[in-house]
Amino acid sequence: MLQDLLMITHTEEQITARVRELAAEINRDYEGKNPLFIGVLKGAYIFMAELCKNVTIPCEMAFISASSYKGTQTTGTVSANTDKLPDLTGRHVVLVEDILDTGLTLSHICKVLSSCGTASLEICSLMDKPSRRKTELTGKYVGFEIPDAFIVGYGLDYNEKYRNLPCVGILKPEIYEK
Ligand code: XMP
Ligand code: MG
Repeated sequence: MLQDLLMITHTEEQITARVRELAAEINRDYEGKNPLFIGVLKGAYIFMAELCKNVTIPCEMAFISASSYKGTQTTGTVSANTDKLPDLTGRHVVLVEDILDTGLTLSHICKVLSSCGTASLEICSLMDKPSRRKTELTGKYVGFEIPDAFIVGYGLDYNEKYRNLPCVGILKPEIYEK
């Protein structure tokens, strides 16, 4: 699998060190608030686990599934499955995502969640491609800002593959141009 990468952009060590910093910020900001972390499946599953391992305040976890990507392109239509979420009334929600790209997926999810009476709603994303944004969305907690390249690993996939790579890297274009 590593041979399919053009280069490794973030090693496992770099990622875990940065995730610890994000968790430390969250520990400070959400003390006494019993935050609810909502991970966006499937991409955020590894980041969510690593983040929550480093959160030391009482908190709860839930997952939501959303998809807009096919291959390396967003389809523009976002579907979000919210029926397995707990009651969000008065909750301090931290939406945990693998990557903020156009922002279309998360702005759709944010609209749905904030209509459920949340006390607060913030975004925590491992990766951020600000140059691609098509909405005004910003992440309060962002692991790494990256240029516009298609990356995989640490939860991020290409057609469901490479999620299990412990690092993040740029996929060789010939893999998706095949
Ligand atoms: P939007 O454009 O709605 O997209 O912000 C967010 C979702 O798109 C996927 N995405 C990627 N997945 N490598 C991936 O494996 C990438 O470089 C990439 N860019 C966007 C991802 O699922 C994210 O949740
Ligand atoms: Mg995703």
